[in-house]
Amino acid sequence: MAENKKEIVLSGIRSTGNLHLGNYYGALSKFVRLQDDYDCNFFIADLHALTTNPDPAQLHANVKNILAEYLAAGIDPEKSTIFVQSDVPEISEMYLLLNMHVGIGELMRTTSFKDKARKALGIGAPEQGADDDEAFEKEIIGASTNKRVNAGLLTYPTLMAVDILIQKATKVPVGKDQEQHLELTRRFARRFNSFYGVDLFPEPYNFNFDGKPVKVPGLDGSGKMGKSEGNCLYLVDDPKVLRKKVMRATTDEGPKEPNSPMSEPVANLFTLLELTSTPDVVKHFRDAYADCSIRYGDLKKQLAEDILAVTTPIRERVNDILADEAYLRRVVAQGAERARERAAATLGEVRRIMGIRGF
Ligand code: ADP
Ligand code: TRP
Repeated sequence: MAENKKEIVLSGIRSTGNLHLGNYYGALSKFVRLQDDYDCNFFIADLHALTTNPDPAQLHANVKNILAEYLAAGIDPEKSTIFVQSDVPEISEMYLLLNMHVGIGELMRTTSFKDKARKALGIGAPEQGADDDEAFEKEIIGASTNKRVNAGLLTYPTLMAVDILIQKATKVPVGKDQEQHLELTRRFARRFNSFYGVDLFPEPYNFNFDGKPVKVPGLDGSGKMGKSEGNCLYLVDDPKVLRKKVMRATTDEGPKEPNSPMSEPVANLFTLLELTSTPDVVKHFRDAYADCSIRYGDLKKQLAEDILAVTTPIRERVNDILADEAYLRRVVAQGAERARERAAATLGEVRRIMGIRGF
């Protein structure tokens, strides 16, 4: 067989619930488009999901749901390697090894860690712009509460870096919120290479078709769509439910003068419209906003139907796929075998470079 020289793409999604429109535009839709041109590897990050201590019975169900949603959205197991993170034990071993080169300070300064640690301890968000690093460290270390921030949450970026580096991936399609983790991954790769004087790890970058990282907003006025925000439009939402959610989206009183600036909730609606609707539909509503004739109800109705045009084919396939246990087993078994091949080779190199050798 000819050697495969395609660039390596890798991405994963945590198994913490069903996939939503943010996951779709930030990640999944890019996965599907990349399949023909790259050596693609997509996985379900169940070890990362453990950092928030999920209910054990729910964890496997979530892995299965995401797997079915990957397949329903068009990831083809013949073109892409689809696997479950915990099926590749080499990742866990390399996570231990790489942690020896990661500083706890740099991990503590990661935005996602601060957010999640605050949540775990029940501490509110800091004032905007406040330089809170020191106070935050004191809170985490000296918190006089019976709640705790687990060490897995702190080392989350190490595990993510290992997912990427163990496959020597260079393109990592993710949403904007993951860019800081990618930056850390590049730093860890450079550090390992230079500490041992090797050229083992390439530096990975985010991948976007138009060069801009995507951030899908929620419909509740501000911020991003996210599971923990409770503002998600899910790919498997029933049409009635989805229409209701869209119709309830926050807006404002409407423009009073031609060409008024847009409030954040309304701008968010337009961001979603741009992602899901055709350019002429977007133009129609932009013009209507500019000349103050816009009716938000009409925009929402159009938006809901255009979102459903994207989600309906996926939703309709998911249940059939979920019912076919034998197929799901085959997909992950084949995926694990392929993913482990390269992971084992990289881990072997890492062990040798670090001085772990057999007798
Ligand atoms: P959530 O934030 O809902 O818990 P994950 O953290 O599991 O979702 O994200 C999985 C993938 O989906 C990542 O690549 C992430 O960047 C992307 N993603 C999640 N939410 C959004 C969003 N609102 N906009 C763009 N991409 C997103
Ligand atoms: N941290 C990512 C998220 O929350 C999920 C993830 C884990 C990931 N490992 C990865 C994404 C490796 C890309 C590559 O969305």
